[in-house]
Amino acid sequence: MNVLAISGSPSATSKTLRLLDPLEQALNAADIELRRVSVSDFPAEAALLARFDHPAVQGFHRQLAQASGVVVLTPVYQSAYAGALKVLLDLIPEGGLAGKPVLPLVSGGSAGHLLAVDYALKPVLSALKASEIHQGVFAVSGDIGVDADGGLALAPALRARLDEAAQLFASQLSARRRAQQAPASWSGLRVCL
Ligand SMILES: Cc1cc2nc3c(=O)[nH]c(=O)nc-3n(C[C@H](O)[C@H](O)[C@H](O)COP(=O)(O)O)c2cc1C
Repeated sequence: MNVLAISGSPSATSKTLRLLDPLEQALNAADIELRRVSVSDFPAEAALLARFDHPAVQGFHRQLAQASGVVVLTPVYQSAYAGALKVLLDLIPEGGLAGKPVLPLVSGGSAGHLLAVDYALKPVLSALKASEIHQGVFAVSGDIGVDADGGLALAPALRARLDEAAQLFASQLSARRRAQQAPASWSGLRVCL
């Protein structure tokens, strides 16, 4: 089982992307692989002109089809999600998030723009038919830092919120995996009986 993280930050040193580390740990502990795709993985023409026949876009569609869940990452730009994220979301075929739980991870310079997740991002995820949109985590960029060794240093309250969101997401995916596996074992039981 794997989860696809879609990052819409155009920054090469994205703070938003650092929010993935605690999530990856929680997913790996539940035997779920985290795969990543970023706006920088696409040639500009393929992404901006929505070339659905471009190999990079087709590869994205395959990754999406194989994913059991999706993490959507974006910084807040001009009180909404980043345009680069919308470019990626526009590459998703109609209903492309159907059956997939989605976890939004957002960072912004000010907590005043927390609602950008609800009024801007979540309606788009709904339009793509995400099966369940988790509450997600909004991080103020000042709470995402680097320690003396170059490692991730998160404010303790942010770390706690991320860990909680990660546990919830991982346990929902694990429950889905168990539910998918159950019918096979039940039919095996019927054969034995
Ligand atoms: C062009 C631009 C616009 C921004 N607009 C906002 C904004 O409207 N509200 C806000 O809270 N932060 C805003 N920010 C701050 C970023 O959201 C914040 O620094 C974020 O953590 C950057 O994430 P990144 O490193 O992944 O790109 C803006 C930053 C940039 C570069």
